[in-house]
Amino acid sequence: MILSGKAKLAGVLGWPVGHSRSPRLHGYWLEQLGIDGTYVPLPVAPENFEKVFRALPAMGFRGANVTVPHKEQALVLADEVEPLARRIGAVNTLVCRDDGSVLGLNTDAFGFLRNLQTGSNWRAENGPAVVLGAGGAARAVVAALVDEGVTEIRLVNRSVERAEKLAADIGGPILVQAWDKLDLDGAGLLVNTTSLGMAGQPALDIDLSALPMNAVVNDIVYAPLMTPLLLAAQTRGNPVVDGLGMLLFQAVRGFSHWFGVEPQVTPQLRDFVLSS
Ligand code: ATR
Repeated sequence: MILSGKAKLAGVLGWPVGHSRSPRLHGYWLEQLGIDGTYVPLPVAPENFEKVFRALPAMGFRGANVTVPHKEQALVLADEVEPLARRIGAVNTLVCRDDGSVLGLNTDAFGFLRNLQTGSNWRAENGPAVVLGAGGAARAVVAALVDEGVTEIRLVNRSVERAEKLAADIGGPILVQAWDKLDLDGAGLLVNTTSLGMAGQPALDIDLSALPMNAVVNDIVYAPLMTPLLLAAQTRGNPVVDGLGMLLFQAVRGFSHWFGVEPQVTPQLRDFVLSS
């Protein structure tokens, strides 16, 4: 794509950032939609983050994504933060406004929910949701489920204190449960937000026998696409949703803000992002 002098600029701030699939994802949409714009990887060390953050509007950027390890710092530096991002405790999307101020968003909750709703017929009324993990991703997942009206969320984490902190911060009908007391009885949804099952990590090894057959199983890990958890769930007949869609759908809001067009998540986009 040849850019004009008026090209719209966006990118991703991370350290390291070389593994990020976001430039490929946004680049695909820019190309498909014929937009005069670009989305670049911006490797920014923690000690330089504030400087670079402040420079974004000054350099004419429309905004950026923020990834590890900068998401908490972005929340502190943004001029305005949407309530959802504040509740989650992290900002992953920056929007530079015409007056030079920066708005901080968190689009992970939207991405998680859209992926679940597009990939299955899950509804909040299906029953209790069981969420494994209490890290950054879990905060977005739990916030999304609370806001969608799930009436019971069983939050299971290796470190119970971290789960209790999450429950207190997000608020809602959250029951913290110990890892060895995993209760899948009557559940309508099981979500893995831990790193277990990711390439290079041990598999998530849990007994699914108590899980109702109509419960949807979602893993937010997407490398590999079919994690051992999803394979086990699929083998016993549960509907499964892989984690790639969360990455793709969370990008929609940022792209719409920066480039003024709402992009589509399509099977072709999935294949393209996976083929990198
Ligand atoms: P992210 O931001 O991607 O959610 P994170 O904040 O590092 O990443 O969280 C990783 C999650 O995986 C946590 O819930 C972590 O459990 P702890 O809070 O107890 O550390 C979980 N996790 C990682 N390795 C694990 C393991 N071997 N067994 C069980 N849980 C594990």
